[in-house]
Amino acid sequence: MVIAIDGPAASGKGTLARRLARHLGRPHLDTGLLYRAVARDMLDREEPLSDAALAARAAAALDTARLDDPRLRSREMGEAASIVSTFAAVRETLLGFQRRFARQEGGAVLDGRDIGTVVCPDADLKLYVTASPEERARRRQRELAQTGEPSDFETVLADIRRRDARDQGRPNAPLRMAEDAVLLDTTALDADAAFAEALRIVRTRLDV
Ligand code: DC
Repeated sequence: MVIAIDGPAASGKGTLARRLARHLGRPHLDTGLLYRAVARDMLDREEPLSDAALAARAAAALDTARLDDPRLRSREMGEAASIVSTFAAVRETLLGFQRRFARQEGGAVLDGRDIGTVVCPDADLKLYVTASPEERARRRQRELAQTGEPSDFETVLADIRRRDARDQGRPNAPLRMAEDAVLLDTTALDADAAFAEALRIVRTRLDV
């Protein structure tokens, strides 16, 4: 049983995917971490993120066992990941790992931008989690404050809009809702309400 969860930056899809996976007793892969780790490895070597060949090499050499590095969670790494994720060769290289993860026995929950459209087009359930840019900016600002990285609302909102434009506008596997995905708009929902709604959708659609 594969559950594909996609959505824009700071939509809450990661938290939701983690909670759903734990609740259902299935493994979870936050695929954004793969792109973030490629960016981290390039930045560590002081390579320019705009170099497609170097990015492809970094993706091919990626150590997928090191995705728990706390540095991957920073705002800078999210932005850097969004840049390297535009390259077709990077996406192609990371595809195999994601598909193998999804195919493991008992299934899995994957979240990202192109899980329902490219990585797992045959997923048993696809959720598209979104919220208004302003609400996402408020959440991101709260998150950053908790990690001791205070930020200004307008800057965070501008970051989110720029990231949306890049993730949706790229030619390779752009962020979009799969035709057979269920839309979950969490603008007016807190994390618990979003989880309850996701669980309701899962139970309606799947035999779990
Ligand atoms: O979900 P996230 O914020 O960790 O993702 C960081 C960036 O990685 C995102 O802006 C675009 C890219 N990404 C992607 O292109 N495809 C995915 N499946 C997941 C993330």
